[in-house]
Amino acid sequence: DPGEHESFMHKEILEQPASAGRVLRGRLNGRFATGHLGGLNMDARELRAIRRVKILGCGSAYYVGEMGATLIEELARIPADAEAASEFRYRNPIIEPDTLYVAVSQSGETIDTLLAVQEVRRKGGYVIGLVNVVGSAIAREADGGIYLHAGPEVAVASTKALTNMFLGFAMLALQLGRVRDLSIADGRRLIAGLESLPGKIEEVLATEERLVAVAERLAAAESLFFVGRVRGFPVAREGAQKFKEISYRHAEAYQTSELKHGPLALISPDVPTIAIVPLDELVERNVAALHEIAARGGPLVVVTHEEVDLQGLEAERIVVPRAERELDPILLTIPLQLLAYHAAKQLGHDIDKPRNLAKSVTVE
Ligand code: BG6
Repeated sequence: DPGEHESFMHKEILEQPASAGRVLRGRLNGRFATGHLGGLNMDARELRAIRRVKILGCGSAYYVGEMGATLIEELARIPADAEAASEFRYRNPIIEPDTLYVAVSQSGETIDTLLAVQEVRRKGGYVIGLVNVVGSAIAREADGGIYLHAGPEVAVASTKALTNMFLGFAMLALQLGRVRDLSIADGRRLIAGLESLPGKIEEVLATEERLVAVAERLAAAESLFFVGRVRGFPVAREGAQKFKEISYRHAEAYQTSELKHGPLALISPDVPTIAIVPLDELVERNVAALHEIAARGGPLVVVTHEEVDLQGLEAERIVVPRAERELDPILLTIPLQLLAYHAAKQLGHDIDKPRNLAKSVTVE
């Protein structure tokens, strides 16, 4: 029973400022401007020996893994990528000794992720877990890890656990960066950015009423696109995932840059696009692509920063506060949780237990 809240998902969305604070606590080292993740069971020499990072997870944990890969490449300059854990073991994956494997899972019990961990370990690889549930199967099987401290998450659609996965990756990337070439100034900048996130998440949540109206309009569409680029693309993937899981509308994520290579043919007044447009090096190209959508009559919702000039674009504008640019994805994700939530509510669905889905899939 979610108490005074209308659902667990809503309760868990609103808990994020507090739960985000918990994953950071005691894990930032101001003096050396680095992360302090004791549970990795790796010393500085071992961290420096890592040549590649492979992230494994399912569903939302896979998409946040893509955000994590970008953080690691940006801050530590180590090649990193995320893969669906459900596919991994079927590719006879090549396990390398200088690769760090990262299994991401709220429940710690998802069978596909657990079997991926076992495949890595059987072949002699080193795996850490980013896991919420203490003592869960993945936490027990991994060589080390970062507990997420999000608290119990009941709604099938992950919100507060996902946010803490992102923060876990940010601290890991910071620590990997600081044993390499990330400067102390950048380390300090990121620590300040991380510490400011709970307050900024609170600011996004305060805009909920405005998002209700936007969500109710989106709920009327049978099909939607979520688009973004580079840091914004996994945000779009996660936004589409949330929307389809609980609203049962067809929501498809695309790289904004790929629209012209296919899906632009589908744009019409009946197909809204939710675009992720942070103030970054791609902003002008992003805005130009959105004008292509508007020219074909496609309704637009743009999740963006105050400073972004949309060049007269006709669009519903949702503004989030800026963090450090590497940390922006998580603040861009929060309004998408609320859009999915309020669309599903408008449609009268069982939000906490969407049809055909389980909170954790523990059988193959
Ligand atoms: C799914 C849920 O099947 O499992 C998703 O429907 C979730 O919402 C995914 O993201 C992964 O779960 P976990 O517990 O491994 O993070």
